[in-house]
Amino acid sequence: PVRIRKNRPAGAWTIGDKHMSDITNEIKKRRTFAIISHPDAGKTTLTEKFLLYGGAINQAGSVKGKATAKHAVSDWMEIEKERGISVTSSVLQFNYGGYCINILDTPGHQDFSEDTYRTLMAADSAVMVIDASKGVEAQTRKLFKVCVMRHIPIFTFINKMDREARDTFELLDDIEKELGIATCPVNWPIGSGKAFKGVYDRAKKEVELFSDTKKGTAMGEVQMVPIDAPETEELIGADAKKILADEIELLDGASAEFDQELVDKGQLSPVFFGSALTNFGVETFLKHFLKMTTSPLPRMSDKGEIDPMEEKDFSAFVFKIQANMNKAHRDRIAFMRICSGEFEAGMNVYHVQGGKEIRLSQPQQMMASERKMITKAYGGDIIGVFDPGIFSIGDTLTTSKEKFAYEGIPTFAPEHFARVRQVDTMKRKQFVKGINQIAQEGAIQIFQEYNTGMEEIIVGVVGVLQFDVLKYRLNNEYNVEIRLENLPYEYIRWIENEDVDMDHLSGTSDMKKIKDLKDRPLLLFAHEWSIRMTEERNKGLILSEFGRS
Ligand code: G4P
Repeated sequence: PVRIRKNRPAGAWTIGDKHMSDITNEIKKRRTFAIISHPDAGKTTLTEKFLLYGGAINQAGSVKGKATAKHAVSDWMEIEKERGISVTSSVLQFNYGGYCINILDTPGHQDFSEDTYRTLMAADSAVMVIDASKGVEAQTRKLFKVCVMRHIPIFTFINKMDREARDTFELLDDIEKELGIATCPVNWPIGSGKAFKGVYDRAKKEVELFSDTKKGTAMGEVQMVPIDAPETEELIGADAKKILADEIELLDGASAEFDQELVDKGQLSPVFFGSALTNFGVETFLKHFLKMTTSPLPRMSDKGEIDPMEEKDFSAFVFKIQANMNKAHRDRIAFMRICSGEFEAGMNVYHVQGGKEIRLSQPQQMMASERKMITKAYGGDIIGVFDPGIFSIGDTLTTSKEKFAYEGIPTFAPEHFARVRQVDTMKRKQFVKGINQIAQEGAIQIFQEYNTGMEEIIVGVVGVLQFDVLKYRLNNEYNVEIRLENLPYEYIRWIENEDVDMDHLSGTSDMKKIKDLKDRPLLLFAHEWSIRMTEERNKGLILSEFGRS
């Protein structure tokens, strides 16, 4: 809902155009994308292989070795290690082929789809990693759908082709049906599992042969042979060649043609096949992807569209706040996406929502749990700055004389609610501080009973795992133990009427009256039909799914 795309083909600029200023040149090199997948589909492995090609690591396996199998590069919190899921997201930057690439990692579980959505707000495109033996899994549906909601280009990498895969047509069908987005295979797998021979490049009409990459530790040598070449049959086998020919014929007749404009609008997903583990098809994917994806896009503000190619001043918005990420650094970091201009460490910027000028000190870029201080960054980059508690998600910072604010980031309506009780009531202060900070990060939403005082707190979350994270973090970071009592409600509605008489509101038996931290009245419902019934019983009542900020 937020960004307006300009009809500008990806890669339309030549890098190094001497008429452009240095800053614009830097921005044009940027490719900022989010990577999203079901846990275990191979997101970490693929990211690692990208880094290998980018020269950021020398040998694959150094980021995630066997011994630390579940302690992936982006896993910060203990809870992630315990449950083997990624709760928070991190950012990686590397250079490849003249591009400066920013990868935003996203949580691998749909209970954190809101966090994924916020991360997608900071990205210009998304890469979905799908396990070829599984397709779109039930748990991932919601996660991938937020990708589609964001209307950015979506690229699909179908991974683990070195294992027995599902039928390729079925896989594509699955993506189209589940996500409501058309697919366009850029290449096509030749067999799978032990019989995996490589991929067929549809545009070049060449076969890229699966080569030995020393179990994926080294960059593969890409060996291409034209499909019509006499040696192809020998190289991939007569049967495989026949099957490939039949499949390609079927595919050419049935699949959508590549259309950059539809890709730009997020309506057509280019699909690639490969095996991240054995390092096959990774560089091919990266090369095509970098050409097809976009450089930093314009974003909407209250003063109209801000185009990084025209706006000279620095501007950025906060998309994520995270406290106590690392025990060694007990502080709060606000992550911002730079939308235009150049960032320099220690510069003064205007914080639009706070209404004052501030100095951005200790800027950092995150390399998983390691932090790297940075001195310069450009539009398209993501930086983390120390937050003394002044930022909120969606805030704008700029050096522009003409102040503007970027469009906000929508919050998701919570779907699960629980009453929170402290085990040790003496620790009230820590409890209030902890729960408020976690709420500011956007991980939970807090409410109160409508009639009683502050004592009873009700927490709403988008996914139930967030309850576990809350409990864990309060205990670990604030030394507060809580008990959660699950409530049966699933729907939340804010009351938009200014003058509503809450005491005489006639609701349903499965309804509960609560209020938010700004004392605005809300209703919780266990059943969807009760919402309509309540509206009918109280003429003129206006209920909305989202609270006004
Ligand atoms: P995630 O970040 O999406 O959760 O997935 P991750 O990369 O951690 O990969 C999950 C598992 O799948 C890992 O195995 C990884 O080695 C394996 N894997 C990733 N890509 C491929 C591939 O292309 N082919 C095959 N066959 N396997 C792949 P693991 O057992 O959890 O770890 P490990 O003991 O193998 O290191």
